[in-house]
This record gives sequence, C-alpha cells and structure tokens, in this order.
Amino acid sequence: MYYLCGRNRKNNDMMNPFKYGVLVDNEYFTDRSEELKEIAKSLNSANHLILISPRRFGKSSLVAKAVKATGRPSISLNMQNILSVEDLASKLLRELFRLYPMERIKHLMTHFRIIPTVSTNPMTSMMDVSFQPIVNSIILIEDAMALIEKVSNEENKLVVVLDEFQEILNIRKGLDKQLRSIMQEQDHINYILLGSQESMMTEIFERKKSPFYHFGKLMHLGKIPYDDFKDYICTRLPSEQQDRLDSIATEILSFTSLHPYYTQQLAAQVWEIMTYDNLDEGVVNEAINKIVRTHDLDFERLWLNFNRTDRSILVSLSKGISPLQNRQKATSTSFSSIKRLMKAGYVIRVNDYEIEDPFFKEWIIRLCL
Ligand SMILES: Nc1ncnc2c1ncn2[C@@H]1O[C@H](COP(=O)(O)OP(=O)(O)OP(=O)(O)O)[C@@H](O)[C@H]1O
Ligand SMILES: [Mg+2]
Repeated sequence: MYYLCGRNRKNNDMMNPFKYGVLVDNEYFTDRSEELKEIAKSLNSANHLILISPRRFGKSSLVAKAVKATGRPSISLNMQNILSVEDLASKLLRELFRLYPMERIKHLMTHFRIIPTVSTNPMTSMMDVSFQPIVNSIILIEDAMALIEKVSNEENKLVVVLDEFQEILNIRKGLDKQLRSIMQEQDHINYILLGSQESMMTEIFERKKSPFYHFGKLMHLGKIPYDDFKDYICTRLPSEQQDRLDSIATEILSFTSLHPYYTQQLAAQVWEIMTYDNLDEGVVNEAINKIVRTHDLDFERLWLNFNRTDRSILVSLSKGISPLQNRQKATSTSFSSIKRLMKAGYVIRVNDYEIEDPFFKEWIIRLCL
C-alpha cells in the first residue's frame, strides 16, 4: 500500500506527502521512538535536558512532539529572536500569559518590582508585554522567572523550552550566570535547552567553569535511521512497482546522507515530478537539478564570500576527501577554516566532516568539473 495513489487521483486532489522547513508531526514524522522515550523520562524527573544536533536535524519537532504527549503546559522561546534582557523578560511573560491570562494570575504578581503593560497589537492580534525603561533590567528577568515558578506546581509541572540556547552568550555578558542562579532555585520547572552550534553548546554545558556546567542530561540527536527513512519514502511515492520505489528511495538517501530536512525536500521534489510530470526514469537526478538551479544565485553569493582556504576545504569535502586526513599536511589554517565553517554551519561532523547542504555540495562538484 502506498500513501497516496498518485496515478489514480486528479492532480488537484493530491497533497504532497513530504514536508520540510516547518515543524513536523503525525504523518510527516518518522522514527525517533527511542529519543521520544528518553525525553519523556527526563520530563518525568526533576532533571533538565540539553539536546544538541546540527541545524535542521529535527530538534524542535521532536521536543514539541514529546512535550505535547505529556499534556503538560509548556512555553517555548527561540533565543535567536531575543534582542535584550528586557526582551527576554517580556517574551517569557507573553508566553506565560498565553497559558494563564494575566487577570487570573495577578495575585501571584505582587512581588513584581516593575509592573508590565500588556496590550494587544491590533495589526497582528498578538499580545505585547512591555516595561517602562529601567537601568537594572535583570530584575525584570528575576520577577518573570519567579512568576513562572509560582504558576507551576509539582503535579503538573511547566515545561520551558529554550531553543538556540547558545545565543544566551550573545544577549548580554554575564546573563548565563544570572539565569543559572535563578534556575537552580526553581523546583517546579523542567527545562529543555536546545542548540545547533555544537561547539558553543558543549562550551556552555561541558566546560567546568561555565555556569551551566552539567546543568542537565546531554542528548545528541543523530540522523534518522536508514531503514525507517527508506520505508517512509517508499510508502509515500506514487508508484506500484516495489523495485522502482526501492531504487528511487535508495538514490534519495544516498544523495542526502539521511539528513532529515534535505531528505524531505528532495523526496517532495521527486514526488512532484512523478505526480505532475509523470516522469519515472532519472527522476531523482531531475529533482536534484531543479533544486540546485533554484539555489544557484544563493550558492554563488555564498561561494564568493569564502576565502581561498575555505573554498579548498569545501572542494575536498565535496570530493569525499577529509581535509584533515593527512594530519602532517593539515596546517593550522585548515584547522581554523574547518572550525569557522562548522561554526557558521556550512560543515557538520557526524561520523566525519561533511558539507551540511548536499545541494551546495553538488553545486561545488559541478563548479569543479
Ligand atoms: N522525525 C522526523 N521525521 C521526518 N522528517 C523530519 C523529522 N524531524 C525533522 N524532519 C525534517 O527536518 C525538518 C527540520 O525539522 P526541525 O525544524 O524540527 O529541526 P531543527 O533541528 O529544530 O531545525 P533548526 O536547526 O532549523 O531549528 C522538518 O521540516 C522535516 O522536514
Ligand atoms: Mg529548531
């Protein structure tokens, strides 16, 4: 049985069964059963969880699904969107007032040294929380965090998810220390801290002198296992020939190296070509060409911004040569280039170093032909 009988339905009836670029759940979500259990165990304890993976491996989808399954109240913030300490306090409160309207929890706010103003933005219908200007903005965070602890309770503990947590180091110097000292006093909250910059996340949670040293259980999220992903693709492609499906899914996975986001992106394009153009032979190549062509300008712009060492590292990686294979020849310049490329997210390390985006890798290979 395949997911949607593509050949037998009118084109405008069909929904592409692959999804990328947004959080996925239900029929768009596969595997991760062990990880879901691990997160559930952590939420059923007094401990916090730290989840690390390269970008777009599925952290946010996984955590959202795990938290939803507990049925517990939760608030979620992306630290990348936080501009200042004051902004952090107002966004925390905004999320909290969504769960517990201010009117209902006013009596728990008597400790507030600065009373927030809550208004509805008429353009977006979203709630805005703001404060009058203040010199020592850390008291805003202290008050907001104290309220979060007060509204939560032992039977139905609040879950607080802070995404791209490593950004805390860029909001204000010393904020990590201040937050840590507030968080260690809290008893009724489970924190889940996510991050995609492995080096910075490891620095925050594994360096002895860091305020967040060993703050919680560290979990590294890997790619989706081959058999699960293959099955996921095969059951959704519009073909009845099992061996065709098998070979198409194998081609997709070998191109994307099982990367969750790029696999869904390529599979969506393959599905589209098979469904609307009725093409079967060479469909994966056609889909790759289409995506590479779409990103041609972006890739060129990126390429022009890399220095010569970065470019030669990227070319080696594209050809499947590990640039640090020959350790004698590897210079300190290539080490720092890899470090820089990893920090910016262009290179990731799973078993070995690899280019994060397989379409960019393909673009580089074509450049070198
Ligand atoms: N369990 C899954 N099953 C199938 N596809 C998945 C799964 N998890 C993630 N994906 C794919 O990867 C994409 C990225 O997922 P998600 O946004 O959860 O990752 P992330 O690690 O939080 O990314 P970012 O680094 O951008 O925050 C999804 O849109 C989806 O295409
Ligand atoms: Mg995310």
